Amino acid sequence: MNINPIVIGMIGAGFSATFHVENYRRVPGIDLRIKGVTARSQESATAFAAEHNLETVYPTVEALFADDEITVVDLCVPNYLHYPLTIQAAEAGKHIICEKPLTGYFGDGGETLVGRETSRRTMFEAALKAADEMVDAVKRNGVTFCYGENWVHAPSIQKANDILAQSDNTILRIIAEESHSGSHSDYAKEWRYSGGGALYNKGCHPVGGTLYLKYNEGQRKYGKPIKPKSVVAEVANLTHIESFVNEDEKWIKEGWKDCEDWGSMIITFDDDTIAQITASDIVLGGIQNVLTVYSSKAVVQCNINPNTGMLTYTPNDHVLGDTYIREKVETRAGWQLTNPDEDWMNGFPHELTDFCEAIACGRPPKSTVELGRDILAVCYGAYISAETGERVDLSEWM
Ligand SMILES: NC(=O)c1ccc[n+]([C@@H]2O[C@H](COP(=O)([O-])OP(=O)(O)OC[C@H]3O[C@@H](n4cnc5c(N)ncnc54)[C@H](O)[C@@H]3O)[C@@H](O)[C@H]2O)c1
Repeated sequence: MNINPIVIGMIGAGFSATFHVENYRRVPGIDLRIKGVTARSQESATAFAAEHNLETVYPTVEALFADDEITVVDLCVPNYLHYPLTIQAAEAGKHIICEKPLTGYFGDGGETLVGRETSRRTMFEAALKAADEMVDAVKRNGVTFCYGENWVHAPSIQKANDILAQSDNTILRIIAEESHSGSHSDYAKEWRYSGGGALYNKGCHPVGGTLYLKYNEGQRKYGKPIKPKSVVAEVANLTHIESFVNEDEKWIKEGWKDCEDWGSMIITFDDDTIAQITASDIVLGGIQNVLTVYSSKAVVQCNINPNTGMLTYTPNDHVLGDTYIREKVETRAGWQLTNPDEDWMNGFPHELTDFCEAIACGRPPKSTVELGRDILAVCYGAYISAETGERVDLSEWM
């Protein structure tokens, strides 16, 4: 077996770069090295390198790409940079690990898209063109692209897939949601950086887990994926309504410029089965990452987060010192669905292990650029539906 060296250059030094570096440390049996980092500011890259014991801080992305020792670039940057950096990395012959979502429509990048004239269909076509160019650049340059959809790798989703594979089982309906009280990142609040609101940026996770399970069912039954054929959707801006705006104390994040904070879609697949997906930035009580499969022979509920792996009670949160409880809980006091290893339940160590093994051995990862592209098509199709009020036929795009 031909083993490629894994020498990683991190692009980005924020939230996702942190959980990536922490979870590379949990990849077993592969000789990997995180050589260095670059970020928008030299200060944050330097601080990140010091915290995580990385030897090199690159002044620019170009300097990182020019380092021949780097074989893999890890894109932990805002969504609007996934496309240009993927093209650049592929052309430099680097393997790519890229955070979700794949790409999107970002306008000319210069101005807010508030009050825009651009229709959602124009956005869909431009975003899909960019995604297809990414697929093409990866193929043309013979590099491996690993799409960072951790729901594919979450142990509960993998176990669901195993259970469904044991018998002649039909997934009839999936209901899945990712919601919390609002992103920490200001990039998420403006379409020109994020390429969408909750429906895309959060919804890409449950859509990703859902497509992965249906694609695998199709491979088992017909030797090809069962693909989405249409989508209907609604979106809303619930933090813009008057009664919420007028409240004095707020726990839910505000400030969404031109991105929706709630969205829901129904996907119909080639085999006429369905998935109901919801995503939002208006839910208190910590992150909700849940997916339930109703199949012909089983019900499988994947409680990625929260789950009852551990319950804790404290009368106030001082008792806990600086203990981490769970993503985005507003309080740590009282009874808590404490997560003893949130990264593990999220599938982060599994994801990076699969990616490093895929690159080292020259095999495809479980979560591919093509999967990222299809997730984009479903979510942008959902935006057309939310705008027009009509069901959107996806078959010609799949
Ligand atoms: N899988 C998940 O659960 C998950 C969770 C959070 C974020 N993400 C994804 O990770 C990506 C980054 O989000 P984040 O939360 O880490 O954001 P962040 O704001 O915490 O960090 C973004 C980083 O990108 C760097 N950056 C910005 N512009 C740059 C440029 N031109 N050149 C080099 N570096 C630049 C910034 O310096 C910063 O270090 C997004 O695509 C997001 O969707 C995924």
